Amino acid sequence: MSLEPRDLPIGVFDSGLGGLTVVRAIREVLPGEDILYLGDSARVPYGTRSAGTVIRYARNCAGFLTDQGLKLLVVACNTVSAVALPALSKELLVPVLGVIAAGARSAAAATKIGRVGVIGTAGTVGSGAYVREIAAARPGCEVHQQAAPLLVPLAEEGWLDGELPFLAARRYLEPLVSKGVDVLLLGCTHYPILNRPIWRALHSLGSDAAMVDSATAMATEVRETLETSSLLADRERGRLTCFVTDRPASFHEVASRFLGEPVGDVEPVDIS
Ligand code: DGL
Repeated sequence: MSLEPRDLPIGVFDSGLGGLTVVRAIREVLPGEDILYLGDSARVPYGTRSAGTVIRYARNCAGFLTDQGLKLLVVACNTVSAVALPALSKELLVPVLGVIAAGARSAAAATKIGRVGVIGTAGTVGSGAYVREIAAARPGCEVHQQAAPLLVPLAEEGWLDGELPFLAARRYLEPLVSKGVDVLLLGCTHYPILNRPIWRALHSLGSDAAMVDSATAMATEVRETLETSSLLADRERGRLTCFVTDRPASFHEVASRFLGEPVGDVEPVDIS
């Protein structure tokens, strides 16, 4: 019996486990969808690598997932979305969505004064992708960026509150707050789970900027895309299947932190 296109899974990939924050948002909005998640945990982080290397890794990830049969591919990694989305969209037969456009649109909609701050990896910030996308969504909007690399290992270590993440966030946010941004876009898969220290840091600097992240906006865009093409799954609860390219000892703990619930079985795969 052949599957209807709407019964096929959504593929989601990230450089590691942080993309499970996007899976969590998609499952909240679309609980009936089957999802195949791939975390390239053997090669994380992508955020410090050159664009050429990130594009090569992204092709491996996308190729592995599309070989399983998908109706939609979601690039959960901001760094990949920033530098590899045009190549993937051109080469693949399934529709491909990246987190940059979704996050940029929600930041552009949220700012009242047209001044947005963005934090992300060095790769994302260096690509200028958020600056371009926010300007496209809201011409004339000022965008100030700051790479915040230390927040990634803090999130992975589970240091989600307390002095260390607070002080790191405060240091990164200072230049953005001094520009008077009224919206802070969390432009990295790992940052949504650090929203408490980030919020505290903003307030300690005297800012009441609103925080937006790409995960929630991405989930809304996935629903709209599937609705428009009549591809919404017709089942109550979908299955989440996780693949990783390496399984670190702390895998279950870290993955569950990002997903917000225990992750089931994971299958180690070789995609290179
Ligand atoms: N997934 C990456 C991102 O959203 C963060 C971790 C990494 O550097 O690979 O940009």
